Amino acid sequence: MRNTPFLFFLILIWSSCMNETQTPNPAKTTGQFDQQIAEIMAGMTLEDKVGEMTQLSIDMLSVGEPYNLDKPHQLDPEKLEKMLVDLRVGSILNVGGYAYSREHWYEIMTAIKGYSDKKASKIPVLYGIDAIHGTNYTLGATLYPQQAGLAATWNTNLVTELGKITAYETRASYIPWTFSPVCDLGRDPRWPRLWEGFGEDPLLASDMAVALTRGYQGEDPSDPYQVAACLKHYVGYSRPLTGMDRTQAWIPERQLREYFLPPFKAAIDAGALSIMINSGDVNGIPTHIDKYVLTDILRGELGFEGLAVTDWEDIKYLFTRHRVAKDHKEAIALAINAGIDMSMVPNDADFPLLLKQCVEEGLVPMARIDESVTRILRVKLKLGLFDNMFYEPENYPKFNSPEFEELAYQGALESLVLLKNKDNVLPLDKSSRILVTGPTANSMIPLNGGWTWVWQGNEESYFADDEQTILEAIQQLLGADQVSYVQGCTYDETVDINEAARAAKSVDAVVVCIGEFSYTEFEGNLYDLNLPEAQQNLVRALSASDKPVILVLTEGRPRIIREIVELADAIILSAYTGNQGGRAIASILFGDHNPSGKLPYTYPGAANALIPYDYRATDQYGIDNEKYKIRPQFEFGYGLSYTTFEYGDLTLSGNTLTPDGTLEVRISVTNTGTRTGKEVVQLYAADLVASIAPSVRRLRGYEKISLEPGETKSVSFTLQARDLAFVGLDNKWQTEPGSFELQIQEKKIIFDFESDSVIFFEK
Ligand code: BGC
Repeated sequence: MRNTPFLFFLILIWSSCMNETQTPNPAKTTGQFDQQIAEIMAGMTLEDKVGEMTQLSIDMLSVGEPYNLDKPHQLDPEKLEKMLVDLRVGSILNVGGYAYSREHWYEIMTAIKGYSDKKASKIPVLYGIDAIHGTNYTLGATLYPQQAGLAATWNTNLVTELGKITAYETRASYIPWTFSPVCDLGRDPRWPRLWEGFGEDPLLASDMAVALTRGYQGEDPSDPYQVAACLKHYVGYSRPLTGMDRTQAWIPERQLREYFLPPFKAAIDAGALSIMINSGDVNGIPTHIDKYVLTDILRGELGFEGLAVTDWEDIKYLFTRHRVAKDHKEAIALAINAGIDMSMVPNDADFPLLLKQCVEEGLVPMARIDESVTRILRVKLKLGLFDNMFYEPENYPKFNSPEFEELAYQGALESLVLLKNKDNVLPLDKSSRILVTGPTANSMIPLNGGWTWVWQGNEESYFADDEQTILEAIQQLLGADQVSYVQGCTYDETVDINEAARAAKSVDAVVVCIGEFSYTEFEGNLYDLNLPEAQQNLVRALSASDKPVILVLTEGRPRIIREIVELADAIILSAYTGNQGGRAIASILFGDHNPSGKLPYTYPGAANALIPYDYRATDQYGIDNEKYKIRPQFEFGYGLSYTTFEYGDLTLSGNTLTPDGTLEVRISVTNTGTRTGKEVVQLYAADLVASIAPSVRRLRGYEKISLEPGETKSVSFTLQARDLAFVGLDNKWQTEPGSFELQIQEKKIIFDFESDSVIFFEK
């Protein structure tokens, strides 16, 4: 399937239109389908309605016990009849332990449709799935980087194109709804789901969330090549105090609004049709019962009109785990009254029965039920499910096509971040003899991470034979006889480190592939952020060889590598780059492509030194004392190239900004090296004095540009007062008069925002 004719075409498109502004998605249309919904609702009984609000796992329709199927899903006619006809269940999800062919998905979906057509209302079932870096539960689907990798591209147009692949291949699998994108900010590398998000910055994450949502939903989500997006996990999920999945977070409302809400808000404005709720608790309140967050903010302020689904089993957890309800029924009443529309139950049939009782006993008002059912029906109508759930298989000729593979390859290439390149050791010469070693060298798993074919992403057997590991890709590029391989160690145990060190003596350079295996959710909880000793020891042993040592880090979150950074001549980060990762890494190692990825999060230098790039001055106790200074290993936004860029002076269109005015910030960038390269020009602003201790800097704009050798481009950003706003004491966005410092690379300039008073914004 290797094919490059599309490359030139794709590069042309991207280099000409990277990060352009796009028009808002018209999927968000108040009042659309109102009459049709009213007609359907008029014919619905309470049983029909509570059924609509129920989402069950496919296990509940299959032979065997949920959570415990010992073979691939085989639908059980009795269960189909009971769940879909008797209980009128409106939504099914997932697959979990297996990936299926499109043909098998067709069988599943036609069977489900057959039964849902038997119920009086005939309302179609809404099937949802975690298609999060491609359609990762359909065999043969195109898998591209996970979200952290996408964010590292800083290329929103590319991300939209990749999202379109998921939409296309998911609909080609007859499924209209993906539980993606993750809008949670990854501000703590201990959190095991960091790689599922777009990194630590709200601006970058917002732009990326919009880009992916547009790719999924397009102009019209009922199109046979689009699906509904589901923003998750609303809100505050990603900052638990312990760093462990689904543990408590304490986030002041001010911070919630300034950091954690914006990506959700941006994607809601772009028309996202659904949202999934945070499983954890924030400030002591499980989000699933937090009416302020679920209704006042989400509906009242953000204007979200779509469907709010719980996360996995979360209503039951309200009494089994959070202990805010005495039993399932009370939990249901609390959650539905707070604003939940659909319960991802997922593995028992009690929810609709108990919800019906809640209504009959006056615990949940009928109006609340009608509101939720209206939202659910609107999503089903917007997806066109009432008209056509199935499109002919031949409508999807691009499924698993070279064209999609090429796009995934581009995504992988742009997501790779070159973190170190001492004395320009990279790119390596193609005539070099290479030792490839390390636990991630010869496996597809650490290239892809979780949610890949199976929930934990840990089944090597699912990968197609022609997908290349890093080792295989290097062998293919150089010829197998130039490449030797010794495993060295597993993720945490020594295997044959001495042999690797011996083998290093007879080659020209060593490529050490280290990092993390795949993990999903709590399975990725960590007790130590340091890269395991066995892997560090492998690097130590190889560095004694005096041969150039190139580290390829394939990992979902930045593991601490402080002690081995100095031993390495070059370091490339692959933040789960997908099935094309091996190929992309080889091509960057040997110079076929020039790296352009930039870190979407801060790479910490030590496990007790976890501060994001936009910390407060007080976070640096050692700000005036080098001894105590926290030094990230690599800064947010950092990433090298094989060429060099020189920045001109930073200039402004004026010395001051006024409340209604704009300020243009300009800088020129020249490619002073000998290769074509892409650079991400990043504009940071610092509020020098503010009523709330300000961040030392905040990303306020960025643009990815491509430059030929010797070429100069001028980049400009237009700033308004609202672009400098923060959330003040009264929880409102505001910009205060005073001085601001702008920074692009090392260039800095100060200007004043002149205003008689503080200016407030709706954001
Ligand atoms: C995860 C969600 C996912 C859902 C359905 C949950 O455990 O937190 O991200 O979408 O399962 O698989």
